[in-house]
Amino acid sequence: MTGTVSGKDSPLIMDNVHTVTGKRIILGVSGGIAAYKAAVLLRRLTEAGNRVTVIPTDAALRMVGKATWEALSGNSVSADVFDGADRVNHVRLGQEADLCLVVPATADTIAKMAHGIADNLLLTTLLSVSCPVAVAPAMHTQMWNNPATRHNIDLLRGRGTVILGPVSGRLTGRDSGPGRMMEPEEIIRRISALPDGKIHGADLRGKTVLISGGGTREPIDPVRFIGNRSSGRMAAELARSAALRGGKTILVSANTEAEILRSLPGSVRNVPVQTAAELAREMQKYAACADIVIMAAAVCDYRTQCAGDAKIKRGKDPITLTLVPNPDILLDLAENRRREKQLVVGFAAETGSAGKDFLQLGREKARRKKADFLAVNLVGEEQGFGPVKTELFLLDREGREKTRFSGEKSTVARDMMEFLAENLYPAENRP
Ligand code: C5P
Repeated sequence: MTGTVSGKDSPLIMDNVHTVTGKRIILGVSGGIAAYKAAVLLRRLTEAGNRVTVIPTDAALRMVGKATWEALSGNSVSADVFDGADRVNHVRLGQEADLCLVVPATADTIAKMAHGIADNLLLTTLLSVSCPVAVAPAMHTQMWNNPATRHNIDLLRGRGTVILGPVSGRLTGRDSGPGRMMEPEEIIRRISALPDGKIHGADLRGKTVLISGGGTREPIDPVRFIGNRSSGRMAAELARSAALRGGKTILVSANTEAEILRSLPGSVRNVPVQTAAELAREMQKYAACADIVIMAAAVCDYRTQCAGDAKIKRGKDPITLTLVPNPDILLDLAENRRREKQLVVGFAAETGSAGKDFLQLGREKARRKKADFLAVNLVGEEQGFGPVKTELFLLDREGREKTRFSGEKSTVARDMMEFLAENLYPAENRP
């Protein structure tokens, strides 16, 4: 377990993990104007106690000189494959690293990475690393939107490279749009959520992880539906964590924002659905081959008895919609395991009601649902939905608290996936 479990008595979210420390990091810098921001990133990383080796490309050195990189990193800097040939630098650096960052990553460097070209020290190093690699693209909107760049990014994602941004904003000239490099603070926040050096030799390799996410929509008529405020972000972060740990990952996503889905590693298989019935069908189908099943979707408890095929017209009289209960998908998956030794995990977003606090309601639900674990969190207007911090209490099937996770959803997802991987097999080791 990593150290993100907050104080047991504190209902507050204590987020002290947004830093990376004690790591050997390679900071590759390619030749974009945003190279000056890599200097800020370098400073933050070294101040936090990391050993950073900077490998600029020749073009990067035209933006920010060698002296700056050497002074800020405290290490000598070379862009030349033939420097220090006696120490076989072009592979040694990569083999020793815990993390490799390319900040900024130009369209040219991204294209070369995607196609395995190795014509400078940074690229030879990238070909020999066995640690997580994250790149922060920075370029003009047209270059970013070009199908060639998009294809190269997909290739990298598909191999597990973490793509950080870009964001939308002011570009080098007077123009603005998507293509601006992510800010150093945000880069640190994202990389702190990566599992420690676990992309390779990952603990979920050979395992299949099935996750549902988002919120189902139950049609009222062809244009209206009953839905909920779930963004699908938590499930997406869980899928990202599972994929980064080497798991074959299937995300059954109910009405999840396109932007969230786009940010996922290419290895995550996305199965889009809309209604609870569709979600049930896909989950039951894929559960037959899953080692871990996580029901993080907010499933509508009711659907309309018969959704009309024409738009309901405004009238003076009240109208009545008859709602019928949807099947409890989690209960079915937990009671009728589709595979031996399968770990089934549910989520419960509670607001607290009828004099019971949300955790008490969660405990009762854990006993009813028959899942191995139920992750309970408090939701409300300002809490639980979208890109916010969260706190999850993981209960076992007797309703006992096993652990809690708190912080950004990416951090919580990473820690939860680590816990599940540790508790996967053998079954007798389960709490
Ligand atoms: O009963 P409640 O909806 O609060 O339970 C939440 C858990 O049950 C979540 O894991 C959710 O995905 C799952 N669920 C389900 N089928 C439903 C309603 C909820 O699987 N019809």
